Amino acid sequence: MKKRVAILISGRGSNMMALVEAARAPDYPAEMAIVISSRPDAPGLAWAKAQGLAAVAIDHKAHATREAFDEAIHAALTNAGVELVALAGFMRIQSAAFVRRWIGRQLNIHPSLLPLFKGLHPQQQALDAGVRISGCTVHFVTEEMDAGPIIAQAAVPVLPDDDADTLAARILVAEHRLYPHALRLVATGDATMDGNRAILKSMVNQTDPLYSPALPGTSKGRHTSG
Ligand code: GAR
Repeated sequence: MKKRVAILISGRGSNMMALVEAARAPDYPAEMAIVISSRPDAPGLAWAKAQGLAAVAIDHKAHATREAFDEAIHAALTNAGVELVALAGFMRIQSAAFVRRWIGRQLNIHPSLLPLFKGLHPQQQALDAGVRISGCTVHFVTEEMDAGPIIAQAAVPVLPDDDADTLAARILVAEHRLYPHALRLVATGDATMDGNRAILKSMVNQTDPLYSPALPGTSKGRHTSG
């Protein structure tokens, strides 16, 4: 049985699109049951509706408290028979009670290699810190923002001429591959939350390091022998 997934968005929704596209594959272990946007004017919401997906706005501004907003989201998730929640550019902090209800069943993607650069503007934070490699992280959601157990990460180089926009665009390409991959692992039970760690079942790991700047004589920053 495919896991029923809700995608929560607040804006553009490009990660939502990547998840929806991935779920079109017959062997993908999850189906997108509902898209919920915290903003009625989110471009991603219009896209989801145009795809014929069940898609609703639950306007955070129409709710007096965080708890009331979260209660409305919880009711929509329950009504849709949702088993897993994927936050995809969902820019609302959730109440502790909501997080606890969905613990181990809620994922988030963040455009940095956590635990570095939590919160807002992680790409600018990476540039300000002068790191040569950044990336993105999919993690289980816990009460502390951007701090839950890490399921999967992708690394990208930070280039000398980067600004926040060029770095964000490079990371976003990786996000669109990483998020469907990570959701698959959770949907199949190959990744589970165990305290402050995510446990992975045995799987193929690549072992090549990523060099940034690239090693001399290599174009991709990867040293390959032979
Ligand atoms: C993505 O880069 C996502 O990682 C980030 O917002 C963007 C949403 O883009 N999320 C966060 O920063 C969460 N802390 P999208 O709407 O096109 O998926």
